Amino acid sequence: MVEENITNLMKEEHKEIESYLNDFVEKYEKRYLNIFWRNIKNHFVIEESAIFILARKNVGQDLDEILSLKKQHKEILKEIKIIGRGFPEKQGTLIKKLVTLIARHVKYEEKVFYPKIDQMLDSLQKEELVEKIRRMI
Ligand SMILES: [Fe+2]
Ligand SMILES: [Fe+2]
Repeated sequence: MVEENITNLMKEEHKEIESYLNDFVEKYEKRYLNIFWRNIKNHFVIEESAIFILARKNVGQDLDEILSLKKQHKEILKEIKIIGRGFPEKQGTLIKKLVTLIARHVKYEEKVFYPKIDQMLDSLQKEELVEKIRRMI
C-alpha cells in the first residue's frame, strides 16, 4: 500500500479531476462541464480551507506561495466560467489555455508544495489532515 501522506492523497484527487476535465474535452457537453466544475470547486475548497490554513498556522509556510496558489485557483475558475458562457461553440484556444493552467498548477502542488507540507507535518498532524480531507471529498 502507498504511504498515506498529503501528496499521495492529493495526487489521487488531481487524477480524478483531470479525468473529469478529459471527459468534458472529449464529449464537449454542458453536463460534463458541470461535473468538472463541481469537482474542481470542491477540490479548491478542500485545499484552501483545510490545507492552506493549516500550512500557514502550523508550519509557517511561505505566505506568498499560498497567495499565489489561491490566485491560480481563482484564475482557473474564471476560465471555466468563460468557457461555460460561450457554450456550445468550439473554443479550442480557451480549452487549451485551461488545460495548461491546470497542468501547471497541479504539477507545482505535486512536486513542490505538497512534498514540503508532508515534510513539515509530523505523522499525527498528517493523519488528522488526511482524515479531515477524506471527510470533505
Ligand atoms: Fe490547488
Ligand atoms: Fe490541487
